[in-house]
Amino acid sequence: MSSPLRADSPLLAPARVGDVPVANRVWMAPLTRNRADADGTPNDLQATYYAQRAGAGLIVAEGSQPSAVGQGYPNTPGVYTDAHRAGWARIAEAVHGAGGRIVVQLMHAGRISHTDNNGGVTPVSSTATPAAGQIFTATGPQDHATPRPLTAEEVPGVVREYADAARLAVDAGLDGVELHAANGYLLHQFLADGVNDRTDGYGGTAENRARIVVETARATVEAIGAGRTGIRISPGHPFNDISETDLSVYETLVAQLAELDLAYLHVIAEADDPIVAKLRAIWPNTFVLNTGFGAESDRDGLERLLADGVADAVAVGRPFLANPDLVARWRAGAELNEPDQATFYGGGAEGYTDYPAL
Ligand SMILES: Cc1cc2nc3c(=O)[nH]c(=O)nc-3n(C[C@H](O)[C@H](O)[C@H](O)COP(=O)(O)O)c2cc1C
Repeated sequence: MSSPLRADSPLLAPARVGDVPVANRVWMAPLTRNRADADGTPNDLQATYYAQRAGAGLIVAEGSQPSAVGQGYPNTPGVYTDAHRAGWARIAEAVHGAGGRIVVQLMHAGRISHTDNNGGVTPVSSTATPAAGQIFTATGPQDHATPRPLTAEEVPGVVREYADAARLAVDAGLDGVELHAANGYLLHQFLADGVNDRTDGYGGTAENRARIVVETARATVEAIGAGRTGIRISPGHPFNDISETDLSVYETLVAQLAELDLAYLHVIAEADDPIVAKLRAIWPNTFVLNTGFGAESDRDGLERLLADGVADAVAVGRPFLANPDLVARWRAGAELNEPDQATFYGGGAEGYTDYPAL
């Protein structure tokens, strides 16, 4: 137990994020849970799970592939068929019915994939070098597949897949999309100088490495509007075999994204990482911070970040996973349920929709 939040806590302040009014500054971070149908169709169990968490200012739904080749893991949702659209429509309706707001994270996994998980297609990347490490598949962990580098001529087609997925998401009634340019997936594979070994217009300089991300953002804005488009980055985060020495690419990128007037920038970093203040200074719109994989995000620390102006909103992962009514619990100063790691990825209702509310 801790003390209740004051009514004027910055965590509880409403805001407008691009076109979307949100009730508070506590967002649900995207969490892959591997419970979609085998063909990527979002199902009613997911609708229940997200509706339970509608107290978040904004739900950023789990990383979801804009195309078959973009699928990394089993049972992640897709955003590219009529069945996917119908599934997302049920989720949007359930969340809106419960008073919440929801965008979906568009995640093309790039080389963090395996042919057993993506319908048998060779994964694509900025490079031909596979990521070190293994990936979960139906038959157990296997080495990441060896990717095929996208040709420069193919990039516009990939960019179009993101834009088409964004249009499908908004058609389904979702409030918008978050472009996943973090955590070692396709767009991060282009940004990272330790991974991107290209010699064409999409590799080499920071400007070139950021190019596909800017093109994706621009195409998404043309499809659904800047006020419904956000983006997530994780500067320097080594997850999924990323290595980065030149973090100036993020200043190059964010300056160009600012010109596109995207609704929000979502950064995964420790609050005192110097990149946070640098990016905040050049970002004119909503700045969202997720304090990373290290420590779990704690209420009073996050409230201080908002009070100090480090960010406009915070995104919270594991505490939301385990506490459907997290904002109400934080408001009341109530005890929290503990997340159960054994049920994070895959399975049914257990460890998914059965965490109790207060
Ligand atoms: C089970 C699980 C699944 C995740 N899936 C995603 C994802 O789909 N997309 C993403 O950008 N981050 C994903 N993350 C990272 C979280 O969004 C968040 O950055 C991380 O959990 C740290 O925040 P926290 O301390 O509040 O949990 C995942 C994390 C966990 C624990």
